[in-house]
Amino acid sequence: MTKKMDFDQARERVDELVTLLDQYSHQYYVLDQPTIPDEEYDRLYRELVELEETYPTLVKNDSPTQRVGGSLLEGFEKVEHDTPMLSLDNAFSKEELIDFDRRVSQLIERPCTYHCELKIDGLAVSLKYEKGKFKQAVTRGDGSVGENVTVNVKAIRSIPLTLKEPVTLETRGEIYMPKSSFVALNQKREEQGEAVFANPRNAAAGTIRNLDPKVTASRNLSVFLYSLAQLDDKEIESQSEALQLLDDLGLKTNPERRVFESIDAVWAFVEEYQEKRTTLPYEIDGIVIKVNELDNQEKAGYTVKAPRWAIAYKFPAEEAETLLRSVEWTVGRTGVVTPTAIMDPVQLAGTTVQRASLHNVDLMKAKDIRLKDTVVVRKAGDIIPEVVKVNKDKRPEDSQPYAYPTHCPACQSELMHLDDEVALRCMNPSCSAQAKEKLTHFVSRNAMNIDGLGERIVAQLYDQSLVKDSADLYYLEKEQLLTLDKIADKSADNMLSAIERSKENSLERLVFGLGIRHVGAKAARLLAEEFITMEQLRKAPKEAIEAIEGLGETVAESIQAFFELEEVDRLIQKLKEASVNMEYKGKRKEEIEQVSSYFSGKTVVITGKLEHYTRDELEQKLTDLGAKVTGSVSKNTDYLIAGEDAGSKLTKAQDLEVPVLTEQQVLEEIDE
Ligand code: IVH
Repeated sequence: MTKKMDFDQARERVDELVTLLDQYSHQYYVLDQPTIPDEEYDRLYRELVELEETYPTLVKNDSPTQRVGGSLLEGFEKVEHDTPMLSLDNAFSKEELIDFDRRVSQLIERPCTYHCELKIDGLAVSLKYEKGKFKQAVTRGDGSVGENVTVNVKAIRSIPLTLKEPVTLETRGEIYMPKSSFVALNQKREEQGEAVFANPRNAAAGTIRNLDPKVTASRNLSVFLYSLAQLDDKEIESQSEALQLLDDLGLKTNPERRVFESIDAVWAFVEEYQEKRTTLPYEIDGIVIKVNELDNQEKAGYTVKAPRWAIAYKFPAEEAETLLRSVEWTVGRTGVVTPTAIMDPVQLAGTTVQRASLHNVDLMKAKDIRLKDTVVVRKAGDIIPEVVKVNKDKRPEDSQPYAYPTHCPACQSELMHLDDEVALRCMNPSCSAQAKEKLTHFVSRNAMNIDGLGERIVAQLYDQSLVKDSADLYYLEKEQLLTLDKIADKSADNMLSAIERSKENSLERLVFGLGIRHVGAKAARLLAEEFITMEQLRKAPKEAIEAIEGLGETVAESIQAFFELEEVDRLIQKLKEASVNMEYKGKRKEEIEQVSSYFSGKTVVITGKLEHYTRDELEQKLTDLGAKVTGSVSKNTDYLIAGEDAGSKLTKAQDLEVPVLTEQQVLEEIDE
């Protein structure tokens, strides 16, 4: 048929086909209301492909055949956002929503209404259209600079390549993978022996950041747009009008949205969707509540991180029920014996869960947890699975109280339940499990930081009697390392040089590595700063330790008890003989007091996820610059440093009008 057409006829038909296919795509992917059978769509699509092959000059940029990009990408170019892509403050209870409502009332004159939307669990993206044509898609990135993912986003069928009007705009929203596509994708990956994605959000992010555009095209991603960031010459007065306009332009928005006049009505919406959540075809993790009127939004304004006119109510962690098969008891480095539940696999908030924490023996007893019980599990902080309670209605009739262990699973010595403790404890100082844990702690990143010596190697070294305590590490020889499983020449050399390097560590790493009860990395640093050498720390009077700000009686007593032990004496002697450094190498207190920096004498709190530093590193840096780093925000706080996903500390700082710095701003000040 195409052969019979002349060029002009073909051009007309191509125009017609592109328009028709766009219209059908919109009905199918955006409105979820197909009007023609799939075969009819395929027939028209093939006709277009044939015409484009015959007359290549007729291929339009926004032809549906151009969605699937060709060759592999080399990487994603960085793009700065015209206006930053902010995040949202979180609320976790009705009270926190009422607080938000109160804050809003202080910022704007009533009346205002609230626009409630679902919080889609995907990844944020910004889309730009020029004169109605799709031009660019950029991920959120760090909020200021994101990655150009235009080629991949083009492959998402619910994102129109042409709008219904030739407008220029930027819109933002969430790209997500529907639950059913996620399940199917993981099933396929499992069959092919590939790693599965932890949840739909990871799957969506992994797909958008894939360097092969064909991968994005083959996976079913979709989008919900939730904001209109820029728009030429259109008058919009509210969030609801903005979303209506996006709809009218053919862009996909989420229909589950409503406007309310009171926070009570907002709460009813939250409760309604908390119920409906599992029945939705995509994952949501909360409700976003936005002041609806744009002039009111403007009055309420922004903090560095988030608008003051919006808040995200986060749903409580999802729970699931499953059967408890057994309990695994593990011995920690201080002898504490902790229980882990081994259960029938269950799907929980996007991952399969089979092990969950039971925390300690007292909690297990309080919950009366028994084998073959049906237990309720959830993810603490949405990450670590824990057993919440037993569903006693499902308890089998022959159920027996759990028989708690009386002896250490590693060394068989009798376990103690000390009066003031919730845990069981193995008191044997030469328990093999404790020794291995102690060694693993000694070599760990925040302690002596010996690369290449993980838990597995440490266990072998111990079991083969090559290493019994941490000082033995410094007497290891290459031939001995070569006897270990899977250790070849090169890795043995690497290990030895990592061990050698660790001899030069500053004192605080060694103090932390020794694993003294109640002495964490931060206390170790304060002690090293104060006493400078191991010798002086060992001799330090209790009062001198207690006098250090941030430490107290418990730490002081624990340190004294530690140094009174004969084996500790021997250990330190052995470390010294191996030339392990026993001096503090950081800035001395006097020097710190003298430096004059942006942070000198300031009280600082750090919250949220950091990108460039670990929490410890930043704390150390700020301390070196003369700051005092504390744990909670009060009116005495000079600065709050807020990373990603900052929570209640940020809200509190805002309430108290404590200045908030981003990690980037801190980096700049440190550089100065
Ligand atoms: S509005 C300045 N609305 O949640 C306000 N965000 O923590 C920008 N999200 O990064 C966000 N659904 O990726 C908004 N209906 C919705 C949302 C939503 C999901 C995500 C978004 C943002 C994060 C905020």
